[in-house]
Amino acid sequence: MNNTLYAERRARVARAIGPDGIALVPTAPERPRNRDSDFPYRHDSYFFYLTGFAEPNAFLVITGDGRSTLFCAPKDLEREIWDGYRLGPAAAPDALGVQAAHSIDELESALPQLLENREAVWYPFAIHPGLEARVGGWLNRVRARVRFGALCPERQDDLCAVLDEMRLVKDAHEQDTMRRAAQISARGHVRAMQLSARMLREGRDVREYHLDAELLHEFRLAGSQFPAYGSIVAAGANACVLHYRAADTPVRAGELVLIDAGCELDGYASDITRTFPADGRFSGPQRALYELVLASQDAAVAATRAGARFNDPHEATVRVLSQGLLDLGLLDRDRVGSVDDVIEQRAYFAFYMHRTGHWLGMDVHDCGSYVEPSEVGQVSERRDPLSGEVIKNRPSRILRPGMVLTIEPGLYVRPAEGVPERFHHLGIRIEDDAIVTEAGCELITRDVPVRPDEIEALMRA
Ligand code: GLY
Ligand code: MN
Ligand code: MN
Repeated sequence: MNNTLYAERRARVARAIGPDGIALVPTAPERPRNRDSDFPYRHDSYFFYLTGFAEPNAFLVITGDGRSTLFCAPKDLEREIWDGYRLGPAAAPDALGVQAAHSIDELESALPQLLENREAVWYPFAIHPGLEARVGGWLNRVRARVRFGALCPERQDDLCAVLDEMRLVKDAHEQDTMRRAAQISARGHVRAMQLSARMLREGRDVREYHLDAELLHEFRLAGSQFPAYGSIVAAGANACVLHYRAADTPVRAGELVLIDAGCELDGYASDITRTFPADGRFSGPQRALYELVLASQDAAVAATRAGARFNDPHEATVRVLSQGLLDLGLLDRDRVGSVDDVIEQRAYFAFYMHRTGHWLGMDVHDCGSYVEPSEVGQVSERRDPLSGEVIKNRPSRILRPGMVLTIEPGLYVRPAEGVPERFHHLGIRIEDDAIVTEAGCELITRDVPVRPDEIEALMRA
């Protein structure tokens, strides 16, 4: 474990909260599934970012003087026989580089003392149900001692504001982990494409869950702990359901399959979507629509670089898609007008109803403000042409090297009046993960191809 890295992050937090501040960072609770079974455990991302410690029942305290105290599960041979190894407080300072460690059982009695004589208490707001009330209880116990000269913190501040800014720009260690996660996920996609074509060639009954199993197999085989989110494996018309999950629909030759899946590796997510012909051959209409989505992704990639805005890739995507929808006859020029009208009136929205990307990091939809912090005061208003709602806009974030975002345009065609039948039920999305660089961006997910000819060649192999 790279202790220096986590110690440096904790030191940054200490500087941000000031000498009289104190920061409280719990990890995630274990969640019961039913009776004696829990859901697979996943640590809290903020906690892991500051400790590299993945055990449950842990709580980190950072004080403004730069000291870190960890509360963790005590050694307990009997429990360890059932649940596994615990680091324990005696080993924690050496293992994790914290200045002190105690049993989690001492948290309740220790917290009021730690909070005494601090100016402000910082913790992640609205992340841990019940934490606000617990902090209130601890502060009440400090208040009971003010007659004896104790000072009680007068301010509560959201630690997310500090940590989100830190997490938004990924350091070299994070970028390296994300590259490895992306490579594993790409291999999973390659295998799922090849399995689909192979099983159909062999005349077998292919289901969405077969492809899901292939992804999971590759993820785990390569050491990933779990998928970063519920995998979408959508055959045929299911691709038009944006939050579809892998079920048991047959995968049929002649139809497209959309897979949106990525693994989590050592706390970091990857997020890839590929859409491919189940049997490895695009039909004419499928290829035409696919080429359009790909061209819109190319435009978004070209718009992703340090100094550009977070919204720039989305706007580039929307322009290419809008023009293409007119050219392919999915939008009728006589009814919707020019490409500028399509954009102005959001007529593309019937086929493209999500944004082109999001931050990616420890969480698949990672933390970090999408508004440029220095420009939050610059509010403009516009009326949404579709809902009529008045929407307040602020200038979107200026991209910096080390920020990581997805680039994921798509088109989803449901049958509707005036929509050519050859495009009905086609759902296409292409999603890659990009690290922003000074000159552009590094696509870390391209070990799985996106060009139609390359996909076809891969599936024939
Ligand atoms: N897989 C979630 C997303 O693409 O945003
Ligand atoms: Mn995504
Ligand atoms: Mn995705």
